[in-house]
Amino acid sequence: MSILDIIAKRSSCRSYKPDPVPREQLESLVEAVRLAPSACNRQPWRLAVVQDAGLRGRIVQEGFLPGIKMLWAQVAPVHIVLGMQRSFGTHRLGASLAGVDYPWLDLGIAGEHLVLAATEMGLGTCWIGWIKPRAVARIVGWPRSIKPAAVITVGYPTEPVRDPGTERKRKAVEEIVKWM
Ligand SMILES: Cc1cc2nc3c(=O)[nH]c(=O)nc-3n(C[C@H](O)[C@H](O)[C@H](O)COP(=O)(O)O)c2cc1C
Repeated sequence: MSILDIIAKRSSCRSYKPDPVPREQLESLVEAVRLAPSACNRQPWRLAVVQDAGLRGRIVQEGFLPGIKMLWAQVAPVHIVLGMQRSFGTHRLGASLAGVDYPWLDLGIAGEHLVLAATEMGLGTCWIGWIKPRAVARIVGWPRSIKPAAVITVGYPTEPVRDPGTERKRKAVEEIVKWM
C-alpha cells in the first residue's frame, strides 16, 4: 500500500474486537511516534500504552468528559494516551514570538504517524480528544509536567472501518486551498 492508500483507508474505528494486539505491533506504533519530526527536535510526546482492562475501564468511566457516549472505547484492547511533556523554554518562546504553540503541532504529527502505521497493519484507531486530562494523567500515573492531549484507541475492527468506494465528508479543495 502506498502512503496515500493508507491515508485513504484510515477512518475512525468505533467498533473493536476484544482480541489483544501483539506486543511487536505496539512497539512498531511507538517507533512511529519516536521517529516523528518536532520543533527544535524537542520530542515533547510521551505515551502510556494501556492494555490493562481495569485501567481502560477507568479511562472511559472517569477520564472522558460527559455528553458524548463512548462506551465502545472500553472494548478496544489498547488505549494509547498521548501526552505532552511541558515546560521546555523554546516551546514557550515559540508560542510567544510566533504565536504558535509548537508542541501541540508536534503531538498531532506524532499521533497521526501512529494512526497511519496502525492502519497499515490492519488495526483500527480512533483519536479521542473529549477527555479530562488531569483525570487521565492520574489514572496512568503521570506527574503534572505531562499533560494528556488525547487517547487513541487501537484494536482490530469488527468490520471494515470504511467502504473505500464511499465519498468522505470533507471540505471541497477550493475551500481549503489557495493556488498561487
Ligand atoms: C484531535 C481529535 C480529537 C477527536 N476526538 C474524538 C472524540 O472525542 N470522540 C470521537 O468519537 N471521535 C473523535 N475524533 C474523531 C473525529 O470525529 C473524526 O476524525 C472525524 O469525524 C473524521 O472522521 P474519520 O476519522 O472517520 O475520517 C477526534 C479526532 C481528532 C483528530
